[in-house]
Amino acid sequence: MPRLRTVYICSACMAQHPKWNGQCTTCSAWNTLVEDVVGGDSPVVSKTVAVSRSLNSASQPLPIGDIAHTSAAATPTGISEFDRVLDGGLVPGSVTLVSGEPGIGKSTLLLQIVGAWSGVALYVSAEESAQQVRLRADRIGVNGSSTLLVSAMSLGDIVAAIDKVKPTLVVIDSVQTIADETVESAPGSVTQVRECAFRLVQEAKARNVAIILVGHVTKDGNIAGPRLLEHVVDTVISFEGDRLHSLRMVRAVKHRFGTTNELGLFEMTEQGLLGVPDASNMLLADRQHGVAGSVVVPTIDGQRPLLVEVQALTTRVTTGVTPRRSAQGVESSRLAMLLAVLERRAGIPFASLEVYASVVGGVRLNDPGSDLAMCLALASAALDKPVHADMVALGEVGLGGEIRHVTHLERRIIEAERMGFNRVLIPANSKAPELQRASVLRAATISEAITLAF
Ligand code: TYD
Ligand code: MG
Repeated sequence: MPRLRTVYICSACMAQHPKWNGQCTTCSAWNTLVEDVVGGDSPVVSKTVAVSRSLNSASQPLPIGDIAHTSAAATPTGISEFDRVLDGGLVPGSVTLVSGEPGIGKSTLLLQIVGAWSGVALYVSAEESAQQVRLRADRIGVNGSSTLLVSAMSLGDIVAAIDKVKPTLVVIDSVQTIADETVESAPGSVTQVRECAFRLVQEAKARNVAIILVGHVTKDGNIAGPRLLEHVVDTVISFEGDRLHSLRMVRAVKHRFGTTNELGLFEMTEQGLLGVPDASNMLLADRQHGVAGSVVVPTIDGQRPLLVEVQALTTRVTTGVTPRRSAQGVESSRLAMLLAVLERRAGIPFASLEVYASVVGGVRLNDPGSDLAMCLALASAALDKPVHADMVALGEVGLGGEIRHVTHLERRIIEAERMGFNRVLIPANSKAPELQRASVLRAATISEAITLAF
């Protein structure tokens, strides 16, 4: 029995430290050290040594042009929004990590993926009983005879199951609840998670089977979770959304077989996750016309244009009370900056107003191109005047009140026109594409934009 000892492992660079420290002395990252228990001879270290030895003896360096092309052809999963993110589908022998907060819908999505898979697919549930998974499968209509289900937590059992049924796709839900019995560490610990992932990567390559690992992340952190697996796996998919809303976003954070700038959109329904091919339509469905404080912005996420409504509401406070600022879907520091610009450059006083700003549909706006729309929504709320209902606004707002150019202007404007908007307000110096119906309005400053918007 090896002697157990406590170590602290950096979840960013995997360096081991004998003592806890606020900063990793190897990679300088802050607050990344997590406690772990390892055997006397750390399995992480021993595996690394074994691999480098076999590489030395077996791998012959060759001129790059002499290397045979491998057919890394991806197999579509059958879930088109997921295939869009994967740039085609899953590559045999690859390992994909799907990470997201608990309850966001990872198990649901992966059950749908195994259900839609064209070959034999094995779903390993290490969190729920087979009966529980069956209930969910019934609800979302997954029942094919080539969709196999096993409830297992031990890596040995999982590998044995793969051996027996020879699937072309294996889903492991989740990597934090399985354990390799030969590793003296609890499931979910850094050593155990990493060791299991490492073994599964080897199995995937050896059998040419695509493996998807589910990994939980917490809102703020990455403790013993997906972050430390990012360099072990081929692809990292992040599954995001606001649990109180139905919209879910899927994107590739890392992808060895394709681009990482595609966004996949799903709606969580009673029947599981439904792909949303036309997100703008869904996001604008409940929009009220003629209400002060509402402005639509054609934002862009990855390559995908998305029309989003931003809203603002202001109420007067009694003198002496500090007014509230509430931001949802937009950074509160960004909101504070835009309020300051509106006050100083456009003369709209907010000092005695409470301000509520939000982005509709649970979308998070990190796009600087949405500044102008947010400013106009705030101005519209403060002046209690609606902006033109058929107008979209685009532009980054600088501290001087100037409207700056945005990326992918053409794609955004075309999406706005497709959705029936007739006026597009853009930065004065941006080149606009030829439009069929919509007219282009230009503003160099926030004051000019406010004049044009009402
Ligand atoms: P789940 O897939 O279990 O999330 P995760 O694996 O990421 O923890 O599902 C999350 C939530 O989705 C769950 O609280 C219930 C809801 N849900 C639906 O709204 N519709 C459905 O068809 C299913 C299966 C789940
Ligand atoms: Mg789950």
